[in-house]
Amino acid sequence: MDLHVVVLAAGKGTRMKSARAKVLHRVGGRPMIERVLDRARELDATSTIIVVGHQADEVKRALLSRRDLTFVVQEPQLGTAHALLTAEPSLRSGSGTVVLLSGDAPLLTHKTLTNLVDTHRRAGAAMTVLTAVVPRPQGYGRIVRSGEKIARIVEDKDATSAEREIQEINSGVYAFELDGLFDTVRTIASENAQGEYYLPDLVAIYRQRGKGVEAMTVDDPNEILGINSRAELAAMNHIVRNEKNTALMASGVTIEDPATAYIDADVEIGADTIIHPCVTIESGTVIGRACEIHSGARITHSRLGDGVTILNHCVITNSHIEDDVSVGPFAHLRNHVTVGAHAKVGNFVEMKNTKFGEGSKSGHLAYLGDSVIGKNVNIGAGTITCNFDGKQKYVTTIEDGAFIGSDTQLIAPVTVGERAYIGTGTTVREDVPPAALAVSAGKQRNIQGWVDKKRGGTDGS
Ligand code: UD1
Ligand code: CA
Repeated sequence: MDLHVVVLAAGKGTRMKSARAKVLHRVGGRPMIERVLDRARELDATSTIIVVGHQADEVKRALLSRRDLTFVVQEPQLGTAHALLTAEPSLRSGSGTVVLLSGDAPLLTHKTLTNLVDTHRRAGAAMTVLTAVVPRPQGYGRIVRSGEKIARIVEDKDATSAEREIQEINSGVYAFELDGLFDTVRTIASENAQGEYYLPDLVAIYRQRGKGVEAMTVDDPNEILGINSRAELAAMNHIVRNEKNTALMASGVTIEDPATAYIDADVEIGADTIIHPCVTIESGTVIGRACEIHSGARITHSRLGDGVTILNHCVITNSHIEDDVSVGPFAHLRNHVTVGAHAKVGNFVEMKNTKFGEGSKSGHLAYLGDSVIGKNVNIGAGTITCNFDGKQKYVTTIEDGAFIGSDTQLIAPVTVGERAYIGTGTTVREDVPPAALAVSAGKQRNIQGWVDKKRGGTDGS
């Protein structure tokens, strides 16, 4: 039997007070809508339709890479029932079951969704509502039952004080039979506190018509949490972070203080790696085994091999660090840096778009940009690749075994040959042949007695 998914993501998200679409705010390091769409994809549906409206272009742009999606635009946004109706043209020729998901409820699991579809189909229901029992139901639609059966859903703003006491809430996730769905949704009225077309009203309508409506309650009410405000966004990120830390620890990672480990949901970390307090490891990062990440480090979209040490306060973005490298403290690696095995990147070293070869060392204070640096190169303190002439960027190449003396400026494009030696304080404007010594500073002159003469013979104090 066919399965279709409709994701609602057109609402304004008024309570977020944000210029950006609510569904693009990040949970576990990724836009919350991405997580919802991952669940949709796992259902292996015949079609997945996303209803966009408020900031539709921004949402579409963010989801450009998702080729399996059909976008429909709801304009204006008159409520969740109206939103579902905008998907009708895309589903007219279809049959089977529709699963409706909310773009602002990103914690739902695959297991719950397959359970929902199974429960729905087994009961032969026209509609199945996913519900949860929560201690604080404020803000949610309440499930009103008559006997065992779900009778209707009443929105928080429309509920009587007795109904507000009900702790079973509507998750906003449903399964529907496509047959007759849109004709019935069209009968929903907007006479309510918000003047909106409420999709939950479908429950009472189907019941009146003698159609089967089921309710399935989730085991873990956290799963159906929706995000409507910044406080809820923070609370959800807290849940996701805790789950991630717990899973990492279970797999053999030491997290010294889980309360201050900010590790995005898709990050991978090998066993016996130690994460010190106050570390941020962001989306797209893979860290190997037996690494040590010290406090204050922020690692984004990067790959670290095994046995890597990141000392305090490093910022590492879009980079690849091979086995047994030590970086920092206070190093900045960004924009496609590759550091070869056993290399050492010391304090106050910045690297940008640079390949730093195996076993090479840059111990202190350097800027290495747009450079290709071979194996076992030594970069002295104060070395700077002058890669930018105000218009264009140029490449500096330093071949294997070269030694760059302290306070060297390399004016790119320039190549330092294998095993060449650059004297301290050299401005390298021309290529240096292999095994040559390059010096550019003039001969030192000492002017005897200069200080005393200048200061008229006084001691100057
Ligand atoms: C909705 C449910 C409520 C449920 C809660 C669960 C309704 C009327 N109420 O309330 O019973 O407990 O979800 O989180 O459905 N949307 C559109 N177009 C619109 C309006 C909304 O696409 O015109 C989208 C929103 O972007 C959002 C979803 O529908 O993704 C839910 O809308 P929202 O306004 O957040 O509904 P709630 O008040 O949370
Ligand atoms: Ca909501």
